[in-house]
Amino acid sequence: MKRIEEAIALFLISLFSFSAAAAAAAIDRSQFPPNFLFGTATSSYQIEGAYSEGNKSLSIWDVFTRIPGKILDGSNGDVADDHYHRYLEDIELMHYLGVNSYRFSISWTRILPRGRFGQINQNGITFYNNLLDALLTKGIQPFVTLSHYDIPQELEDRYGAWLNPQIQKDFAYFADTCFKAFGNKVKYWSTVNEPNLMAKWGYMTGQNPPGRCSQPSCPSGDSKTEPYIAAHNIILCHAAAVDIYRKKYQVKQGGFIGIVMASNWLEPFTDTPVDKLATSRALSFDVPWFLDPIIYGDYPPEMLQILGSRLPKFSIEDKKKLQTKLDFIGINHYSSLYAKDCLFSPCDSETSEGNGFADRTGEKDGHSIGAKTAISNFYVVPSGMEKMILYIMERYNNTTMFITENGFAQEGSRNPSNEILKELLNDKERVEYHSAYLSSLLKAMRKGADVRGYFIWSLIDNFEWLNGYSKRFGLYHVNYNTQERTPKLSAKWYKEFLQCSAEISIKADGDVKQKLVAY
Ligand SMILES: *[C@@H]1O[C@H](CO)[C@@H](O)[C@H](O)[C@H]1NC(C)=O
Ligand SMILES: *[C@@H]1O[C@H](CO)[C@@H](O)[C@H](O)[C@H]1NC(C)=O
Ligand SMILES: *[C@@H]1O[C@H](CO)[C@@H](O)[C@H](O)[C@H]1NC(C)=O
Repeated sequence: MKRIEEAIALFLISLFSFSAAAAAAAIDRSQFPPNFLFGTATSSYQIEGAYSEGNKSLSIWDVFTRIPGKILDGSNGDVADDHYHRYLEDIELMHYLGVNSYRFSISWTRILPRGRFGQINQNGITFYNNLLDALLTKGIQPFVTLSHYDIPQELEDRYGAWLNPQIQKDFAYFADTCFKAFGNKVKYWSTVNEPNLMAKWGYMTGQNPPGRCSQPSCPSGDSKTEPYIAAHNIILCHAAAVDIYRKKYQVKQGGFIGIVMASNWLEPFTDTPVDKLATSRALSFDVPWFLDPIIYGDYPPEMLQILGSRLPKFSIEDKKKLQTKLDFIGINHYSSLYAKDCLFSPCDSETSEGNGFADRTGEKDGHSIGAKTAISNFYVVPSGMEKMILYIMERYNNTTMFITENGFAQEGSRNPSNEILKELLNDKERVEYHSAYLSSLLKAMRKGADVRGYFIWSLIDNFEWLNGYSKRFGLYHVNYNTQERTPKLSAKWYKEFLQCSAEISIKADGDVKQKLVAY
């Protein structure tokens, strides 16, 4: 009897996923609320270049990328997309797409090259004011991140940046400076981008700057304590910035402030209770690590239990500061993985404890969880979008959300051959990816999730951190020799999606149906 029910359920699921694919083909902008934000996303270090112009100082990424062997193709963001000089051209690209919003980040080192130990740099203020004015002229709402990985190296050198509570003073001063200079033009602020990855990759695995982890993998650091100290300071930095915004600016400027979390989904590796528990722990050690303190005033119970005294405590004063909470949760969602228990059957991975005694994998019994992409742990699993949103909706009482990043990576060297270039431009996998993820997003919204916007990562190919220029996420291809931008098929698709003309769509067999439009 049970077998038959399972067979019927499987049959229904397969029918359902087939119709979901067909539905994905039909989706367009008209299915979303009229005031929904549709945009593209970038970050300062990944696109701006001009790393030493206009009295900008060096960020931790400027310094880190110069250490031999750190970046896959030995590159750095010195020039990147030269957006610093080409921002008007890039705004034209967005205007052409028809987006109503643009998510970007402010380079801390342009505004305060020496943190609070030096002057406000007028060149930096002018650059972002020009960018904001040009966006607003085109009817594009700025959605601004204060810190997207790149912070002044001076703060690292002086006191260890995120590891020192002093960072709260610097972050508060930086935030205040930005609200004051730009707040009448900006309605959406995010304090920090992906602090969960910053803490894990900067202080647990040490793969990102400042490259700290336990010896012998790193020259210095402590993977078992520092990630939690850095996270604690980041949470209090967020609270300090929100406090300043609420008290001094929000009423007058009428905007919203939130934080952006790396929010990939996890499925239990097997149906066993231990893997299900491991999945729930691994999820708690990720997004709720930051959002539970910000929204409910303390770390998730599983973290308190497993980490004990290694988890810093919020003082009564800290808890008071945390009461300012946030206005929205930014969700960067790309992929899903399986989570496997490491508590009852120990794993050999060094980071399993930091993931709640769970290991992550995309492979099971010779099959991957979804189609592979150019980024090794990123698989195409559209249903993960809906699940992640519903998880956050339920845990945080229907707080407003924005999908601040969602994107598909292509393999592509810095100088692709003409043949490869043709393939890169005909990125039907990316069109398929976004269609499917948007339709998963719609399902979550129809179940009551209060999602107000969606940003594609990224507008243009750019410096993809440790991968250098070897991975391409852009709707526009960038030729790094000439800085020429060329629309990919996905750029044309996004434009038509936004115009509701749906002239490019993916048929059920994966073929691209395309009515050519003039460019
Ligand atoms: C940068 O700062 C120095 C003083 O430290 C000043 O002389 C110079 O003119 C500044 N450069 C720009 C482009 O503003
Ligand atoms: C959840 O949100 C509702 C409506 O905004 C509010 O009335 C309620 O108090 C919230 N519950 C919690 C536990 O925060
Ligand atoms: C969440 O909030 C939105 C906007 O306030 C509302 O429309 C929706 O019904 C709420 N969903 C749930 C599940 O309460």
